[in-house]
Amino acid sequence: MYFIANWKMFGGLNSLNSLNKVVNFFKGFKEKKTTKIIYCPPSTLILPMSKKLKSSGIDVGAQNCHQNENYGAFTGSINSKMLKNVGAKYVIIGHSENRSSGETNEIINIKIRSALKSGLKVIFCIGETLKEKRKKNTKQILNIQIKKGLDKIKNKKNIIIAYEPVWAIGSGIIPKSNELFKIIEFIKKKNKVFKILYGGSVNSKNIRDLKSISIIDGFLIGGSSQDSKKFIDIIKKTYN
Ligand code: 13P
Repeated sequence: MYFIANWKMFGGLNSLNSLNKVVNFFKGFKEKKTTKIIYCPPSTLILPMSKKLKSSGIDVGAQNCHQNENYGAFTGSINSKMLKNVGAKYVIIGHSENRSSGETNEIINIKIRSALKSGLKVIFCIGETLKEKRKKNTKQILNIQIKKGLDKIKNKKNIIIAYEPVWAIGSGIIPKSNELFKIIEFIKKKNKVFKILYGGSVNSKNIRDLKSISIIDGFLIGGSSQDSKKFIDIIKKTYN
C-alpha cells in the first residue's frame, strides 16, 4: 500500500522535526515490506528532507515540475532533472490545484514524459469536478485525462495514478464506497498496469471505509499528512 503525503504549500525547516515520529514508527512497523511511504513537501524542503529520511525507507517526491526537460529561462520554475538532483524520486503531476490554474492535459503529458526521462516516478492525478460529476461525465472526463496525459508513453511502469475527485479535496466529503469501487475498477480495466490510489479528504476516521475497497492500492493525503500522529494513524488503521 502507498501512503503519499502531499504537504502542498505548507511547511518550513522546523516542520522536519515532526518526521521523527514517522521514522520511528516505520522502523518497527510489521507491514513495512508492503508499505510505501512517500513525502511530497514544498520544493524548498526536498533536499533537507531527503537528507533527513536517508536510510529510513521513506522516499521523497516533488509536487510539480516545469515541462521543459532542460535548463532554460523560466523564472521561478524547476524542472524534473533539478528535482531528481536534490533527492526527489517521485513527482506529482496533474494535480487539480494546478489544472485549475491553467495546466492542460497537453502540458501534463509533456511534464510526465520529461519526468520519466529524468528518472522520476510519476504520481499522475486525475479527477472530475462537481459540475462534471453532476452531469454524469466522470468516466468521460477521466478517459480524456488519461488518454491525453499519457499520450505517446509506451512504458508506464513508473506511473501511479491518483484518482482525486476535485469535489472531495479539502471538503471533508469522500465518494460513496460503491461509486468509488466502480470508478477505480473502470480505471484499472482500461489500464491494467497501474497502481491506483485514492485522494481527497482521507483522514483517520474515514480510512476504515476507504480501506475496505480492496482494489485501492493506497492513498494520496493532503491535510491529514501534515500531522504525523494523524498520518501514522491512517497507516495503522489501513492494516487492522
Ligand atoms: P486533502 O487530503 O487535504 O483533501 O487533499 C487531498 C489532495 O489534494 C492530495 O493531493
